[in-house]
Amino acid sequence: MKTPSILFVCLGNICRSPLAEAAMRDAAARAGLEIMVDSAGTGEWHVGHPPDERAVAVAARHGIDISSYKARQVRGEDFRSFDHILALDPQNLRDLRKIAPSDTSARLALLLDHVPGRMGEGVSDPYYQDDIAFELVWRDVSVAAEALVAVMRGD
Ligand code: 4NP
Repeated sequence: MKTPSILFVCLGNICRSPLAEAAMRDAAARAGLEIMVDSAGTGEWHVGHPPDERAVAVAARHGIDISSYKARQVRGEDFRSFDHILALDPQNLRDLRKIAPSDTSARLALLLDHVPGRMGEGVSDPYYQDDIAFELVWRDVSVAAEALVAVMRGD
């Protein structure tokens, strides 16, 4: 069977989606689940940059090193090559739907749609906020990653 693949998408690919990618890699590894994950941004401002230092710090506090990640922008091919594209907030999802090519095969949804009781919600943008906001992002993406692992294992 083909390895399932998920692309996490936020605006800059330096705060929320790298943390979602990291949390998913970690949850899948702990569950022994083989999965392909990546992250990208709808915007182009931070392409090639490492994650925001506050995102690196929060991941490190939870035992994960994301300092080597590099931001990239979503591209047309992503809509064909990934099984799932999960947006971090509703605006990202609207933007993805606008740029999706006509032959898109990926399923587009919100990351938190997979968390019971949080359907339709976004993960708050922490960029103009403090370290506590980054901890809240970590909490959201970790809960979502565990929920995704459970769905993928068929629990
Ligand atoms: P992200 O956070 O979408 O979670 O990576 C942001 C990063 C950069 C900007 C906004 C949000 N920005 O305006 O440059």
